Amino acid sequence: MFLGKVQVLSNKRLSSSYYKIGLNCDSDLFKATPGQFVMLRLTSGIMPFLRRPFSVHNVTGKNNNGQCIDILYEVVGEFTGRLSEIRAGEWVDIMGPLGKGFALTENCSKIFIVAGGIGVAPMFFLSSYIIEKKHVDSLDIKVFLGARTKECILCRDDFYNLGLEIIVTTDDGSEGEPCFITSSVEAALAQSRPEIIFACGPLGMLKSVARIALKYGVPCQVSMESLMACGIGACLGCALEGNDESKYLHVCKDGPVFDACDIKFV
Ligand SMILES: Cc1cc2nc3c(=O)[nH]c(=O)nc-3n(C[C@H](O)[C@H](O)[C@H](O)COP(=O)(O)OP(=O)(O)OC[C@H]3O[C@@H](n4cnc5c(N)ncnc54)[C@H](O)[C@@H]3O)c2cc1C
Ligand code: FES
Repeated sequence: MFLGKVQVLSNKRLSSSYYKIGLNCDSDLFKATPGQFVMLRLTSGIMPFLRRPFSVHNVTGKNNNGQCIDILYEVVGEFTGRLSEIRAGEWVDIMGPLGKGFALTENCSKIFIVAGGIGVAPMFFLSSYIIEKKHVDSLDIKVFLGARTKECILCRDDFYNLGLEIIVTTDDGSEGEPCFITSSVEAALAQSRPEIIFACGPLGMLKSVARIALKYGVPCQVSMESLMACGIGACLGCALEGNDESKYLHVCKDGPVFDACDIKFV
């Protein structure tokens, strides 16, 4: 695990309140696998005091200045607001990679990837990682992107460039079907079942994906969110109730990616 300062290579607004920051990465960060996260802190000022968790969006390049870790983020509060003002050449404090990412099985080739809103952040890394391990020709990956509006659809071109089939829905119907993405997932499942579903997004979406996966008997892994203080299993602040009632799960250490059957969705 790496803990220290890294230099900002780029920080661009993509649309609406979404940004992508590229960080010059240390060799340990380079070992991140899809679904793992990093904890970021600003190097100027004391506030916000606590590091904030962000999924690894992509890891690129292998030499000198080309070694880069990307974070895709939405401005929602003080930290993300200040992060959006950082310029190339400045520094951020980073700890990672952390947590358990998506468990990839060798023999799965028919895959549904379901992302709601900023939940798309770890899914591009996941898709490109799977393609790197296998070849796109031997894979059948459908990417389901759900967003509030057309402006909030993220990474569509990136998935397209990977050669993947993309299904888009928006809550307001400004692009794709006017429905939640889970309706499209269920319609596609009813026609042809994947071997596995990977999902990341708002809690309501994950709950719905988990229910659909269970109904059709398809294994499903979900990336969960929780407020985090330490990110390494020390403060117990990120506890989630597991399906086994005697057991609490910690998002930072046991996750953030879980088998959907292990989570008690309320
Ligand atoms: C494992 C993990 C991976 C994440 N990956 C990403 C990512 O790739 N991109 C991204 O934009 N965000 C991601 N998040 C969420 C991100 O950590 C928060 O949006 C960020 O900490 C907000 O900080 P802030 O100071 O800007 O906002 P705050 O002022 O702290 O919060 C603003 C609002 O967001 C809510 N909020 C803050 N943190 C969380 C959280 N962890 N879960 C649910 N609600 C929260 C607060 O309750 C408040 O309503 C991830 C969270 C986790 C746990
Ligand atoms: S954030 Fe401290 S235990 Fe998970």
